Amino acid sequence: MNADYIQLGGEQFVPHCYPAMIFSPFLVAVVVVFASAVTGCPVLCTCRSQVVDCSGLRLFSVPPDLPLDTRNLSLAHNRLTTIPPGYLTCYTELRVLDLRNNSLVELPVGLFLTSKRLSHLDLSYNNLTHVVADMFQEAYNLVHIDLSHNPWLRKVHPQAFRGLVQLRDLDLSYGGLSFLSLEALEGLTGLVTLQIGGNPWVCGCTMEPLLKWLRNRIQRCMSDTQLAECREPPEVEGAPLFSLTEESFKACHLTLTLDDYLFIAFVGFVVSIASVATNFLLGITANCCHRWSKANEDEEM
Ligand SMILES: *[C@@H]1O[C@H](CO)[C@@H](O)[C@H](O)[C@H]1NC(C)=O
Ligand SMILES: *[C@@H]1O[C@H](CO)[C@@H](O)[C@H](O)[C@H]1NC(C)=O
Ligand SMILES: *[C@@H]1O[C@H](CO)[C@@H](O)[C@H](O)[C@H]1NC(C)=O
Repeated sequence: MNADYIQLGGEQFVPHCYPAMIFSPFLVAVVVVFASAVTGCPVLCTCRSQVVDCSGLRLFSVPPDLPLDTRNLSLAHNRLTTIPPGYLTCYTELRVLDLRNNSLVELPVGLFLTSKRLSHLDLSYNNLTHVVADMFQEAYNLVHIDLSHNPWLRKVHPQAFRGLVQLRDLDLSYGGLSFLSLEALEGLTGLVTLQIGGNPWVCGCTMEPLLKWLRNRIQRCMSDTQLAECREPPEVEGAPLFSLTEESFKACHLTLTLDDYLFIAFVGFVVSIASVATNFLLGITANCCHRWSKANEDEEM
């Protein structure tokens, strides 16, 4: 074995943690023979002091073997449509991952399970459609997540960012979001900047809790709520999110006044009197008919 990678990162080399093994056992044999290539740089990429740059290479798939001590990895400006599950498993030193400007539609579940040091993640300019629950699970040192310019991004799960207490910057601008639950942001206690502009927000009653929260936090949390506008409903189309006040959501709280209660009580009273009277009249009528027909029968006999 090559001593170079036994000591990587000051941690013991875990034999199963060579990325090539994920792809093919055959490659493992190749690796053993060319052990010096283990910390080598993927073809076409540039590698320099733990920074691996594979940007703008028109890659359709991820480069399989990166140096195990990679800290900054850029795969930006390629044509990636998927990332294999477990791709990042061995790069536990990873701090910065740049996946900007690819064609990613989704990320595999558990991609970041060993990315405990990851702090910057750029997923902007992709084709992501939704952010699932616990997408960034275990990457709880994330400080910065950029999900902007994903025009097909329609859904962010309420638990998408669960546990990311270190998160300072979250960019959700220029997506296809019409709704975002307050739950998704509430737990982000360290949040400093939030970008949500350029989305087709539907400013109905379901958005009220979020907007209220944003208004209350605006002092501590920089946000682009001035830029973010409502697409619907028609009454508030084009209005900045921040301009919506309690008044705008008045219709969401149909509270009854004393007059309303009195009116309802009065209507109820009238209706019950009317029904008693009707029953009384019906009773009399039935009784009369009964007697009348009985009298007729007696006459006929
Ligand atoms: C790694 O990426 C971060 C964020 O993009 C950057 O600030 C830092 O300078 C990069 N490190 C190196 C050594 O290039
Ligand atoms: C995305 O990458 C392509 C090259 O693959 C480049 O021409 C284009 O300008 C990039 N777009 C952005 C928004 O960076
Ligand atoms: C993104 O997805 C949409 C439909 O989901 C598709 O029409 C479009 O071509 C995709 N764009 C890229 C760059 O993959």
